[in-house]
Amino acid sequence: MIKTVKDVDLKGKRIIMRVDFNVPMKDGVVQDDTRIIAAIPTIKYILDQGIKTLTLMSHLGDPAKDTESAREKALKAGKPFDEAAYIKGKHRMAVVAAYLEQKLGRPVIFAGEDSDYGKKAFIDSQKDGTVIMLENTRFHKEETAKDGAERDKLARELASYGDVFVNDAFGTAHRDHASTASIAKFVPVSVAGFLMEKEVNYLEPIVTNPQKPLAAIIGGAKVSSKIAVLESLLKNASSLVIGGAMAYTFLKAQGIKTGKSLVEDDQIDTAKRILEAAQKARVELILPLDHVGAASFDAAAAPVAVDGLNLPDDLLGMDVGPKTLARYKEAIAKAKTIVWNGPVGVFEFDRFAKGTEEVARLVAEATGRGAITVVGGGDSVAAVNKFGLASKMSHVSTGGGASLELLEGKKLPGIEVTRG
Ligand code: 3PG
Repeated sequence: MIKTVKDVDLKGKRIIMRVDFNVPMKDGVVQDDTRIIAAIPTIKYILDQGIKTLTLMSHLGDPAKDTESAREKALKAGKPFDEAAYIKGKHRMAVVAAYLEQKLGRPVIFAGEDSDYGKKAFIDSQKDGTVIMLENTRFHKEETAKDGAERDKLARELASYGDVFVNDAFGTAHRDHASTASIAKFVPVSVAGFLMEKEVNYLEPIVTNPQKPLAAIIGGAKVSSKIAVLESLLKNASSLVIGGAMAYTFLKAQGIKTGKSLVEDDQIDTAKRILEAAQKARVELILPLDHVGAASFDAAAAPVAVDGLNLPDDLLGMDVGPKTLARYKEAIAKAKTIVWNGPVGVFEFDRFAKGTEEVARLVAEATGRGAITVVGGGDSVAAVNKFGLASKMSHVSTGGGASLELLEGKKLPGIEVTRG
């Protein structure tokens, strides 16, 4: 069991809380505030307990990696590169702090103009009930250091800002970083927030003890990034839908013609192994039975209905066809739990969005008849948002990599530190 903010006395305490405010930004404007809004119930609860200070910390993007690739790009284009301006636009938490202040309806002090340590005195001098947001944790190289002793240097400093560590950063729970996990060694108490609790309560049982039958819908581009999750889901699923571009590697493994579709030839053996494992485990594995093809990967390409299993040489698979959707419907209708990670077609292009939209609709309908429905992973979340169906799911995860790793059956460092 994980411990939560409800299990400890917070009155008069200094709280240091990790959130995942790694939100998409463009020209200094927050593009999607889901993760900020999702942390607010925990923040409000903490503030209602009569605390001393609440210090929030998060990463935003990956400054070191992003700066390097932006520099290279500028160099290649023969343009000057202004690192400070680049970082300011993309990685500074000031905009996020101001956004939170507005949503929370109370002041949030941004304590981040310098990225040095030494905020303890500043935090301790604040009046009761003050909310503080620190600068991007990844401005410190120790945050992501491979060497645990290096991470501990930052973790110790961050720990000195709080008497209780609250981790509500589910999206970053799979990272063993100073502010997500190491910090727990240096604070007396570590607990989860409500978002973390909700994510774990929906995602963990899918691997440990789901309400059966379980239908899993796994899509996306690459088999290689989904092998572990497919293998893990085979243990409990009654039906396993494999869709999206990765389905073509499975079809090719069965000797079906895949035309110009994206196929990972080096994963054919893996696909064969998973097909065999599904048969052994008596899991109904559902691959596309028909397709919507196109001559090129292009939003304006003309959709071509392909009635059978084989794709002609001049087409690539962009979406599933009606026979496949009818099969999906049967599998979803039988299930008491449905987990969905990854689109089944190129839903970003309206002409090839039908399959994914229908999956979203079928899963939403299943929620209506009492099934537990969980959507995880960036692209499928984007899809349910695009089709206006997010509120019709039991749970839409705020984590991409984190939800995938939890479904793979892994223990996530940011969750483990909150176990009682
Ligand atoms: C995410 O967006 O998946 C999380 O915030 C983790 O970010 P990361 O992949 O840069 O560690």
